[in-house]
Formats: sequence, C-alpha cells, structure tokens
Amino acid sequence: KTDSKLSINGTEFVTDDYTNVTPKILSYLNRNLHLDKGNPLSMVRQRIVNYFYSSFTHRGSPDFSVYDNLSPIVSTKQNFDDLLIPLDHPSRVKSDCYYVNRSTLLRAHMTAHQSELLRSGLDNFLMIGPVYRRDEIDSTHFPIFHQVDAVRSQRRDQLFPKNEDLELFEPTFDPTKPHTFTNSISDPTKQSCHTLEATKLIEHQLKDHLLGLIKVLFGDIKYRWVDAYFPFTHPSWELEIYYNNNWLEVLGCGVVRNEILAKAGPNNSIAYAFGLGLERLAMALYKIPDIRLMWSNDSGFLSQFQNKDLNAKITYKPVSVYPQCTNDISFWLPGHLSIDTFMSNDFYDLVRDVGGDIVEQVKLKDKFEHPKSKKHSLCYSIVYRHLERTLTQAEVNRVHKEIETAAISAFNVVIR
Ligand code: PHE
Repeated sequence: KTDSKLSINGTEFVTDDYTNVTPKILSYLNRNLHLDKGNPLSMVRQRIVNYFYSSFTHRGSPDFSVYDNLSPIVSTKQNFDDLLIPLDHPSRVKSDCYYVNRSTLLRAHMTAHQSELLRSGLDNFLMIGPVYRRDEIDSTHFPIFHQVDAVRSQRRDQLFPKNEDLELFEPTFDPTKPHTFTNSISDPTKQSCHTLEATKLIEHQLKDHLLGLIKVLFGDIKYRWVDAYFPFTHPSWELEIYYNNNWLEVLGCGVVRNEILAKAGPNNSIAYAFGLGLERLAMALYKIPDIRLMWSNDSGFLSQFQNKDLNAKITYKPVSVYPQCTNDISFWLPGHLSIDTFMSNDFYDLVRDVGGDIVEQVKLKDKFEHPKSKKHSLCYSIVYRHLERTLTQAEVNRVHKEIETAAISAFNVVIR
C-alpha cells in the first residue's frame, strides 16, 4: 500500500482517514489578511497591539512580544493535548476541524501556540493569525477567521509588590512539585492550587485590561461578562458587547490552568489568557454587514479603509454587489497649467456631474511631464458601478466619452 501525500507550503504530509482539508481552504493559507495594510482586520490588529504595547511597559520597553506569523499547521498535541482538552471533547471532531491527517491540523484557535511560547521562556505575549474551523458560509461565518490570543504571567512579587504576606498558592500546594497535587476546578471561583486573593486580583486585572481595550476601540459601549468554561482556563469568562440589538460574544478569557503553566513555563507564576475574534470586532466597529467582505479585493470596499488614520471613525458604506468597470482617461494639460496648478477636485466634480451615481471612484493613476514640450499629462482611472444592475461596457464607454468631451471644454485639455 502506498501512502498518499499532501504538500503544503513545501512540506509533505502523509494523508489518512482524517484528512479533510480542501484545496480551496489551502489556497487561502498564505493570505494573511491580518497583515494586509488597509484591511479592516489589520487595522483592528494594529490598534490592539498598540494598546498592549503602550499600556504595559517596563523601563520603556513593551512587556508583550507579538507573534503574528506563526505557521497555521499544528499538531493535535499543540491544538488540544497541551491545553488539557480531553480526547472526547467535541471541538476535536472531524466535522469541525480541517485535519491534514490524524495528528496534524490547521489550528482551530491561536491558543494552540500558548504552550510552545511559554516553553520558549516568554511571560507576556500576543499570538495573532488566522484560525480554521469548518462552518457554514453566511454573513457571520466563514471557515477562516482571525484571533488575537494573549498570555500575561506574573510572579508573586509582581502581582503583590506591596504585600509580602500575600501568596499565589495555597499552603497545601508545593509549586515545585505540581504533580503531587490534584488541581481541582470544582470550586467555581478558583483553581484549588491558587489563593482566592491571587485569583481575584488577576481576574480584576484581566477584566480591567480587556475593558480598557474595548473602550479604546468603541468608546462607550454596553457590555456584559458571562461565566464560561474552557478546558485551559479556570475560572473563565466571555465578554459580550451590545451591538445591533444583539449581544455579540467577542472574546473568551480566564486564569490559565496551573498544570499548563507549570509544565511549559514558570512554576512560580499565575497568568491570565484571552482570545478575541478580529472579525467580530471589525464588523461591529466599522459596521461591516458581511464577514465575506473582509476577503474582498474590490476597491469599493478596500478604499474605505486604505490610507485612513488608524483611529479615525470609519463607518462602512455598502457598495453595490454588481461588478465594477474601470476606464482610464489621459490628457495633456494646456500650456499654462502644470500638475501642481491643475485642480484635481474640479476634475472630480466634473466627473461626478457628468457620470452621476454610477461613478464609484476616481483615482489619479499617473502623471508625467514631456521632456521636450514641457507639457504635463495626467491619467485618471474612473471606476464605474451601478447599484442595481450590471453595466454594459458600451454604456460605460458612452458616459466615459461624455466625461472626455466635458473635460475638453471645461479645462482645455487634449485627450491622449
Ligand atoms: N481559544 C478560545 C476560543 O477560541 C478563546 C480563549 C483563549 C479562551 C484563551 C480563554 C483563554 O474560543
């Protein structure tokens, strides 16, 4: 029997009865929307990173390091076992994950990298990237979405700098021998190894830091904390924000299970962790009605975000679903006008006047000065789109011609 192989990003994987990644999903693998400058997801990512960089520093250096380019191909150990997710947990099922084979999958959450980064010696870090879950495709679901996950760990002297007598751990727990203790989570308020004081203070910090972020992003917004369960944190919560007459879950968080921390990282620390969804935040923040728009290459969508100030208040204006049609117009300016004295805005107004509602955008594409005649030439791209129907090229050409004629008489230009 010869094994089938699947090549992903130059690595060969043996396939088996678990393999269910599709060529379509694999074609998105190196897309990394969260790193695309001018994509709303990337803008929210930058704002989150800026918040953590500027809010938490030590002697001028940020506490958090950022990992936003980790490979999405992970082992079941990374995605599940290291995080104490039991073998029979529903999140492991084939119908919910994209498996490469029985032991390898496209990560279903960014928490998959938590243990390896702790093991590498980090205390405070952000993990940012796409995650993959099999799901329906509708206005709020897409099989790939983006998460920002984080861990913040503190030693006793960092959590209680002024209180020599407060402890992270119960006296019955010896942090140097975590295996001799059964760390129970039957008490809803804390893990049995932790003191109530340490748990309450870390809970307070966690909620305070996350609400600080939500405030930076949304200003005043209605929110609520909901008790939650994750195998890798205890206690755990979800934060919901009130948006569009609905409670929208935007993040999960909690106190990292000490088993994970002690195994992969320091055994004398307590940590919080959270994971938030960039799509949900971006959709609420910019009022983007459909998650698929994040993947759009349509300039009618992207131009609403590109070259905008990160903190500008942007409200997405729906663009038509009918296709765009782009025609260029190039002209020589009359001798007395240069690139600097020609008023582009006058030209934009003329285009709007003649073209009307079917003009979606006008962009300066090229400018050029003739070396001999010293005459200046400009080229603009005009993007046409009808809101209710598909435009024919002939129709667009007719309007485009009218714009040329109007430009000739208004500005004395010579069409090239
Ligand atoms: N990984 C969780 C999810 O994808 C979110 C989470 C991260 C919860 C870290 C708690 C701590 O839903």
